[in-house]
Amino acid sequence: MDRGRSDGVQLLSHDTHPAVEVEIDVAVLKTEIKKTYASVSDEPEKDFIFPTGRDWAEDLDYPPELATVPDRAVESFAGVANPFSLGRLERGERVLDLGSGAGTDSLVAAQMVGREGRVTGIDMTPAMLAKARGAAAEMGATNVDFVEGEVEQLPCPDGSFDVVISNGVIDLIPDKDAVFSEIERVLVPGGRIQIADVTIQNPISAEGRRNIDLWTGSIAGALLEAAYARLLERHGFERIETGQLVDTYARSKFEDTRRKAEKFGARGTTVKAYKPLP
Ligand SMILES: C[S@@+](CC[C@H](N)C(=O)[O-])C[C@H]1O[C@@H](n2cnc3c(N)ncnc32)[C@H](O)[C@@H]1O
Repeated sequence: MDRGRSDGVQLLSHDTHPAVEVEIDVAVLKTEIKKTYASVSDEPEKDFIFPTGRDWAEDLDYPPELATVPDRAVESFAGVANPFSLGRLERGERVLDLGSGAGTDSLVAAQMVGREGRVTGIDMTPAMLAKARGAAAEMGATNVDFVEGEVEQLPCPDGSFDVVISNGVIDLIPDKDAVFSEIERVLVPGGRIQIADVTIQNPISAEGRRNIDLWTGSIAGALLEAAYARLLERHGFERIETGQLVDTYARSKFEDTRRKAEKFGARGTTVKAYKPLP
């Protein structure tokens, strides 16, 4: 199990990260992640080691609702696959978007669930939250809120959502057990996750796990596919289904990233699973 320590250091364990035992300073990592994603928000035209923007979302076959999401959100889209490829959300559903970034997925979801439904996007990067709020106002979306917070300690009551979506975020967080405990807590019984995240095929070396660019680019914190399923089972999820597998980093502008992603078999993956009914 991943172990968080009171001094803010996280030890990656052999259970979820086999063949490597590395200490990560979570505060330093979060500062770097915030810097990277503030830049994705404020300078979307820049080249990042991961693909971004509307062309990328269209290549992932995003649903037709994407067309109505303002450019100011979609230009900073930084997802790794398409969580809606696992199924559309239903009208009236209450949706939580973990690491909502500039708001693309939340604003697609807000159209799917309609006025009877509600979407809450959580993110820790203020520039991303400001962009998402601006895009929601431009769209006139009144059923969506963007809230500052951290996925490992969600500012939400127990059992308050029908669906948790997320795209390219859990792979950035060392303490996966805290993430899935929180998801389990805020879902209603019978609720589901529909998430896109990076998984790897080959274990990452200790050196790779210490590489901050590989962390902020979603690769160093990614789990092996089999470890992902084990993690979900350990947190009580059932009917686990994986969908799309996307060669996300083949789209990177950086040769070194393409090479490392290939070496570790890093791919955008989609996963759906349910919290059991009592
Ligand atoms: C790869 S971007 C994806 C954004 C969005 N989901 C999208 O598809 O465009 C990752 C986002 O997760 C946020 N994030 C990373 N770690 C977080 C954490 N522990 N708590 C809250 N937000 C986090 C970052 O601020 C960033 O906006």
